[in-house]
Amino acid sequence: MDKCTSINETSRKYPPISVRTRECTKSYKVPGTNLTLKKASAVFVPVLGIQSEPEYHAEPDKFDPKRFSPENNAKRHSAACIPFGDGSCACIGLRFGIMQTKFGLTTLLKYFRVTTYQKTKVPLQVNPQNFILSVREGVWLEAERI
Ligand code: HEM
Repeated sequence: MDKCTSINETSRKYPPISVRTRECTKSYKVPGTNLTLKKASAVFVPVLGIQSEPEYHAEPDKFDPKRFSPENNAKRHSAACIPFGDGSCACIGLRFGIMQTKFGLTTLLKYFRVTTYQKTKVPLQVNPQNFILSVREGVWLEAERI
């Protein structure tokens, strides 16, 4: 199994940029609806919504890194998990961003045992007022030097 599956699963449950914007380049009828988007319409892509959709991710509230095993990756729709975006405007720093995350975590976890502090409310409550995904009342951690 790929070693960054926990980071992938965290990015699925908590995509830092949880809404994406696009502009329609041509008129488009949304399949299964009466809705037709006109050319030049602004579209908000609800990334957090897509990544929490049970049709694509069984038991979406469950933290399950095994979703990102090579076998499960092959079965999933390519746009069902897009924390770094998709298409021609997708993030060019994807690999660098994942490497930085791994580097930061390994540096921290080498010296500290980290647990959630009692002040952290679980399950986490997303703050709807922020564009960048953040948690209401924050995530409080306790770090004990190893
Ligand atoms: C965990 C870290 C990161 C996350 C979650 C992230 C996420 C994203 C997202 C969601 C987009 C918009 C994609 C779209 O609209 O489809 C984006 C675009 C972009 N990102 Fe990142 N990013 C990260 C790190 C980085 C890093 C480290 C760099 C550069 C070294 C970078 C450079 C860019 C650039 C230049 C774009 C604009 C691409 C374009 O419009 O053509 N990102 N990123």
